[in-house]
Amino acid sequence: MRMRFGPPGHARDREALKGVTLDRGVLKRAWGFARPYRLVILGFLATIVVSSLIGLLPPLLFRAIIDTAIPEGNRQLVVVLTAVTVAAALGSALIGILQRWLSSVIGEGMIHDLRVALFDKVQRMPVAFFTRTQTGALISRLNNDVIGAQDAVTGTLGSIVSNVIVLATTLTTMLILEWRLTLLALVVLPLFVLPAKRVGKVLQSISRERMNLNAQMNTQMTERFNVAGAMLVKLYGDYDDELGDFGNRAARVRDTGVRQALYGRVFFVALGVVAAVGTAVVYGVGAQLVISGTISLGTLVAMAAYVTRIYGPLNDLTNARVDLMTAIVSFERVFEVLDAPTSIQDRPGAVDLVEPLGRVEFDHVSFRYPAANVVSVASLEAPGSTDELPAGPPPEVLHDIDVVIEPGREVAFVGPSGAGKTTLASLVPRLYDVTAGAVRIDGHDVRDLTQTSLHAAIGVVAQDPHLFHESVAANLRYARPDATAAELERACRAARIHDVIVALPDGYDTIVGERGYRLSGGEKQRVAIARMLLKDPAIVILDEATSHLDTENEAMVQAALDDALRHRTSIVIAHRLSTIRDADLICVVDDGRIVERGTHEDLLALGGLYAELYLTLVGETAPTR
Ligand SMILES: Nc1ncnc2c1ncn2[C@@H]1O[C@H](COP(=O)(O)OP(=O)(O)OP(=O)(O)O)[C@@H](O)[C@H]1O
Ligand SMILES: [Mg+2]
Repeated sequence: MRMRFGPPGHARDREALKGVTLDRGVLKRAWGFARPYRLVILGFLATIVVSSLIGLLPPLLFRAIIDTAIPEGNRQLVVVLTAVTVAAALGSALIGILQRWLSSVIGEGMIHDLRVALFDKVQRMPVAFFTRTQTGALISRLNNDVIGAQDAVTGTLGSIVSNVIVLATTLTTMLILEWRLTLLALVVLPLFVLPAKRVGKVLQSISRERMNLNAQMNTQMTERFNVAGAMLVKLYGDYDDELGDFGNRAARVRDTGVRQALYGRVFFVALGVVAAVGTAVVYGVGAQLVISGTISLGTLVAMAAYVTRIYGPLNDLTNARVDLMTAIVSFERVFEVLDAPTSIQDRPGAVDLVEPLGRVEFDHVSFRYPAANVVSVASLEAPGSTDELPAGPPPEVLHDIDVVIEPGREVAFVGPSGAGKTTLASLVPRLYDVTAGAVRIDGHDVRDLTQTSLHAAIGVVAQDPHLFHESVAANLRYARPDATAAELERACRAARIHDVIVALPDGYDTIVGERGYRLSGGEKQRVAIARMLLKDPAIVILDEATSHLDTENEAMVQAALDDALRHRTSIVIAHRLSTIRDADLICVVDDGRIVERGTHEDLLALGGLYAELYLTLVGETAPTR
């Protein structure tokens, strides 16, 4: 006797089942993922058929013992029949193992295939997708929905096939043996199926509620138990409030757990009672028939044994439609991500950028950030976020930017916060595509280049550089996996970070914590500079940290930069006087436009926005000098 309420992971989807129809397109694509396993699936279905048929044997064998062997006093036949019963049990055990093996080969195989496909799809998504997507929701797509989808093939499909076969063969055998008793056994069925449907519904809603509560509890834990979150709680939060919130959530999880257990047991007990009643009815009525000589004793025993085999499958089949729909929903959720638009990809016939000189040209570039519906999967965003989106296209952030940066030159972009400097720089490595105009490198529109060669030509040191939770060496080698230890050291010396790394507990093998927490801001930037130097790109984009470094750190970073930027085209988003003064050209960006351009002296003499910015910078920097 088996119970199927559907794995809890799917319960949440059942809400979404209303109005879902079996979409042929989805089924076809789902089959596409199952196709490589078609032979294994065939074998799996075959084991189901064989084990259902073997399951029919024992009652028939018992019947033969009672009706034939015992009356004839044929001891040899008893031994043979008993031996066959034992063999049947062994056979069905072995087939059960084979069946489990096949189903896991299919299931785990499909999980693997779907995951790999999703991972590759997601890593190729544009940056805009990641800025909009809730990481938790995305991870759950790669975990739970993928598992739900494979369950459609091994779980649901397997259970439907096995239930249909068990039910059909058992009912047929029963009808052949004694049709009146069979009908009688079926009469008690509504007694069970109707209440069971009710309890099943309650159970579904409990497990859905439990899923949501669990998710809330997990969200609180993941948000609080990372370095940044824990720090925020310590500095601004209140332990007792946090504990109170968490305690409430945990308590509700506990309460639903108790209710779930209770209803589950009621369901199970009810099924047991019906089977017992069914058996009793078969014995009660059947015994009368045996006494009146209508049927044999063996038939009665066999019927009683069969009757327990029909209630479980009948119950499962009443829920089969829901199970199937649930599984299909999982597939749909996986396909939703696989089908998400990849707005930035290599165009057919894209060419490699070979031996780049590093001439960067912004040709009348205008840009607006892409609208949500273009770049993201709505169901992966924070709930409600799409409702808050203003209607119409998003505002233009950059207007008609027109600059040429000759190879090896350094251009500084300066301007107030939010002016669009970071945005402008992100157009060069094609983190975003321009809305109008073009960005060209050595005369090639970046959209005509392969992304691999484009990214190889550009080294970016971001405003807040990210380090993976790995050793310093591994982080550096991310830019160039084949770099030797000597090359690492040379880059780190040039970036003025070697001495700091050597002083770490394990030197280059020190793990830098999540987000590089053991390094100071300035040190982290210098590691990022070393990483960029290892890559040895023709074009460097440096988004300076807005926060002020202390004098010593600033001098170090400046020395590192002098080495790093030499002989490379440099686009520097500058917040520090020292970098700005060294630039060949300074562009002042304000509200998405280049409002002034020239050398430091020119711009100072102009007495415009630059002069104003310069004065504040000097004013702020002066006390530390
Ligand atoms: N992912 C995004 N989606 C939509 N709008 C964005 C996004 N990122 C930035 N913006 C908007 O674009 C404008 C320019 O932002 P940007 O980050 O380029 O400014 P910035 O000049 O680098 O400022 P700062 O000096 O503070 O770093 C801002 O108004 C900002 O709100
Ligand atoms: Mg910025």
